[in-house]
Amino acid sequence: MKWTIVVGRYDKDQPAGSGYPPPFESAAAKRYQTFEVDLPEHAMVLDALIQVREYQDESLAVRCACRSAICGSCAMWINGHANLACTSKLRDFTVDGKVTVESPPSMPPIRDLVCDMTPFWQKNRQVRPWLEGKEPVPAGEEYRVPNAAMENLIQEVGCISCGACLMDCESFAVNQNFLGPAALAKAYRYTADPRDAETRDRLKTYSEPDGVWDCTHCYECVQQCPKGVAPLEQILKLRRMAVEEGFTNNAGTRHAYAFAESVKDSGRLNELTLMPKSFGLLNIRAQLQSLPAAFNMARAGKLPPLIHKKIPGLARIKSIFAKVGGKFK
Ligand code: FES
Repeated sequence: MKWTIVVGRYDKDQPAGSGYPPPFESAAAKRYQTFEVDLPEHAMVLDALIQVREYQDESLAVRCACRSAICGSCAMWINGHANLACTSKLRDFTVDGKVTVESPPSMPPIRDLVCDMTPFWQKNRQVRPWLEGKEPVPAGEEYRVPNAAMENLIQEVGCISCGACLMDCESFAVNQNFLGPAALAKAYRYTADPRDAETRDRLKTYSEPDGVWDCTHCYECVQQCPKGVAPLEQILKLRRMAVEEGFTNNAGTRHAYAFAESVKDSGRLNELTLMPKSFGLLNIRAQLQSLPAAFNMARAGKLPPLIHKKIPGLARIKSIFAKVGGKFK
């Protein structure tokens, strides 16, 4: 069966021109090259790339090892989203007669389909992905935990560190310092482990800027993760733990409280008060930083109404809050 595959080619050493997708390089160094391959109906995108490299262009750079969704090395952009090439069927990704593959623009490119994973590994290291022992283990013994205590962590343990979640993370795309979905999911794995002694210290660190509260719930990480780790869900668990431990003096927690308060009081979000309540009215710097976004919203006719009205049937909303209980009962 014939397949058409369009490959983003890039060579760091070629002279750059007017713009590889920002922020890393310029586009002139990147070009798209089309290849035809003959493969069975059930073939994967990686099969096509390997055939190209073996029989048509040996200079094509592609990273892979296990070909079984274990090593995580073949994550790349396929039709504009991060996927493992070894588990992506050509027939599922062929659109208008072709499949387009390229290095994800959110990561520094090295060559062709190979990107530099340094940002990914740096973020992983930052969250201290190891257990900080509670007390020295007596010689010849080991830490033992009940199975039930580990069930909660199984989801994250499935991570193969392919980086697909970070490649498509909307927050990382605008803030390179954001810890990102994979690292935060790993952070949860160690924070919630009953053998770890640094729970409070970890939660304090993860609650700081560029941490758990910088996630925008775009769900790209949940969608792209090939192993069902659902990093966003682990981030939400970390947020809950941090609030329960009292780490609430930050813009993220205030934002969440202001959001809930507004919905409880009027049935809808009051966007005009959200910023001041999240960052503090006297935080002039934050207010000024939000001005460009406010102007853009005004230009697009998306400014919220100046008079915030309650919705009809507000009592039903209030009854939901009362039922859920907690701070907003
Ligand atoms: S080649 Fe190992 S995960 Fe795809």
